[in-house]
Amino acid sequence: MTILIPEEYPKKLIDKNGKRLDGRALDELRPFSCKIGVLANADGSAYVEHGKNKIYAGVYGPREVHPRHLARPDRGIIRVDYRMTTFSVHERKSPAPNRREREISKIIEDALAPTLFLELYPNSAIEVYVQVIAADGGTRCASTTAASLALADAGLPLKSLVAAVAAGKADGEIILDLGDLEDKAGTADVPAAVRMIDEEFTLLQFDGEMTPEEFEKSIKLIKKGAREIFAKQTAAIKEKFDTVRKETEEENKKIEKLVPPEEKITHASGTKEEEKAGEEKSDKAEEIKEEKEDPSDTKEEEKKPKKEKEEKKSEENK
Ligand code: CDP
Repeated sequence: MTILIPEEYPKKLIDKNGKRLDGRALDELRPFSCKIGVLANADGSAYVEHGKNKIYAGVYGPREVHPRHLARPDRGIIRVDYRMTTFSVHERKSPAPNRREREISKIIEDALAPTLFLELYPNSAIEVYVQVIAADGGTRCASTTAASLALADAGLPLKSLVAAVAAGKADGEIILDLGDLEDKAGTADVPAAVRMIDEEFTLLQFDGEMTPEEFEKSIKLIKKGAREIFAKQTAAIKEKFDTVRKETEEENKKIEKLVPPEEKITHASGTKEEEKAGEEKSDKAEEIKEEKEDPSDTKEEEKKPKKEKEEKKSEENK
């Protein structure tokens, strides 16, 4: 892909038929797909492709907070580390974390915190690591969507999933889900994250110019896009747990084949009559054992005749 400098941005981002450069309608999302449980070594993970964005998110915790001074005695904290790989953008990005990455990490933390029961985890941290493998505009939104899925995959109790997408303005039109070029060449960008249980916004940023009516329209478009993403998120979770259920059922079937049925076990230890005889034998053995085990009684019994004999003798002597 060629690198465009501002002077080379296309003059029109929307054609006379109301189609965008990639052929999308104004209110259309880019192709979106997601999957959970993609990283074996994280407690929870997700992979999201949103347009040409490719993003992994991995979750660890809740676990002890490092550095310890960040720990809160009354509640847990969420820490997000958003990073772009050096090869994720046209111009090689320095591998060192920069200010933009720190800002986006903080934004994602704030977008996800209202979905967690942090009061359940005093002195602990839930850590979310996000790696942008390929970037194409709207990575903060796609990363938030991925991180929310990874939290769900980690089995953490959640109040809701979060779906994130931007709206914006280009060629005087309000558009949904800006690609990289629309982000750069457009006149406004409104990235947002929506807590799907009540459609409250947990992230709302604004860059550019819009009338209040255009802003209202953007909010409606964001909610529409978020609902479409949410449907894919829930489908991804269902797909994983369907697979887990099938695998468990197959495992159970294998185990059933290995364990012999109940009748076989009876047969292996002998016939029923033999079993009965065995039980009687063991009852007798128990009785004998009990007798042996009661030394106090035995001694008393032994002592009795001796005493009687002595008494008899003394009477005779008298
Ligand atoms: O990615 P997002 O829209 O949330 O954040 P941004 O800072 O507005 O960046 C917009 C886009 O610029 C990114 O998605 C990347 O495609 C691109 N970008 C880049 O090419 N080089 C960077 N160092 C940072 C971002």
